[in-house]
Amino acid sequence: MVRRVNEAKEVLLSNYQPGGFTIPSKGLYPFQWKWDAGFIAIGLAHFDIEKAKTEISTLLKAQWKNGMIPHIVFHTDTDTYFPGKDFHQSNLSKQANPDYPSTGMVQPPVLGFVLERLLEIATDKKDMLAFIGEQLDKVYYNHEYFYTHRDVNQEGLAYIYHNWESGTDNSPMWDAIWETMDPPHYKFERRDTTHVDPEQRPTNREYDHYLHLIEIAKKYHYEDAKIAAHSPFLVLDPLFNALLIKSNESLLALYQKLGIDNQKTKNLKQWQEKAINAFNKKLWSPTHGAYVHYDLRNQKQLPYISSSSFAPLFAPIVPPEKLVALNQTFQEKFSAANLYCCASFDPTHNGFNPKRYWRGPVWINMNWIIYHGFKRAGAIQTANRIKEDSITLIEKYGFKEYFDPRKKLENTTEGAYGGDNFSWSAALYLDLIK
Ligand code: DGY
Repeated sequence: MVRRVNEAKEVLLSNYQPGGFTIPSKGLYPFQWKWDAGFIAIGLAHFDIEKAKTEISTLLKAQWKNGMIPHIVFHTDTDTYFPGKDFHQSNLSKQANPDYPSTGMVQPPVLGFVLERLLEIATDKKDMLAFIGEQLDKVYYNHEYFYTHRDVNQEGLAYIYHNWESGTDNSPMWDAIWETMDPPHYKFERRDTTHVDPEQRPTNREYDHYLHLIEIAKKYHYEDAKIAAHSPFLVLDPLFNALLIKSNESLLALYQKLGIDNQKTKNLKQWQEKAINAFNKKLWSPTHGAYVHYDLRNQKQLPYISSSSFAPLFAPIVPPEKLVALNQTFQEKFSAANLYCCASFDPTHNGFNPKRYWRGPVWINMNWIIYHGFKRAGAIQTANRIKEDSITLIEKYGFKEYFDPRKKLENTTEGAYGGDNFSWSAALYLDLIK
């Protein structure tokens, strides 16, 4: 198939904003999203290193006083997105950054490993290392925030209080939690479904749950301890914590490259050891042969396998005996010949839906993580299959937000869904073809 390198660059440049950040997709997502910004920077680094650096420094300027980096930074005013800054009201929190209206929640901690990847890509290593030296403590403070304010049991695992913090917004695994809640039927105007077919997005009732969780956090002025005490959604997510552990590892590597050995690196090493132990104890399910989510509010594992189950391969987490079982689970469920890798939710489960956002479609950022994971584990064939499938999907359908895992579709208009000219699909395509 024909390479789409120039198109990928055009997508990123056309989504780049004068304020020094890149929107994920025009209309649908018109602000800066945290984990998007990280993946986008990796793509930008392949052809415009200054923009890659700016993407990260712009995001870090919006950091809260307590070290939190918000999931969306509302750099501009636009009414094409709901819920916007007037709904989230980050100014309710004493910790918020008054100069940058944002949400009061987080997204997966990607910045550590993103900075490490930027250093690998940069041709002028000295310049990039100097940039990293200016930013690294901010990322450290973000990790300190997670281990200080998001670890209720002080066990080394950070909780999330909202499905949007997981990144995997409407995954079927949250359904069990929605069943424990009965939020009001809010009156609101969805904006996402004016850009994308409602069949490919969460339902209105799901949005009631999403908004209700935000209302609870707002009621407590986004104070972490109060949210932890009262939120019906309180989850230890294997994707989130695996990326935190991976980013800890990257921070340590980068501090070492900068010749820094201090209390921060000591703390990072301590968090890391505790986190890896707790991860394997609490998030491993022997019955599923995979890592799963843990519902802290209801004190039980959530019995679902998703693409998040394989994120630990990307970090120094998986011991040899678990690696064998995890690989077997992946091969049995996710690598069927009639499917593109990797469905975002267990394709053999009845909750699987190949079109609806995080209930089944393939996402390029998850593929990038799992590709690097299998590579790290030495499973090169599986890693290459994931890489090739990602490239094939993009070359076939373009830079869509998510892709149908089924190779044979009844209808030729199907195959790729969600937003068009989606930035991280373009960015990680540029990285995967290297
Ligand atoms: C959305 O609006 O669907 C976003 O994913 C929230 O982060």
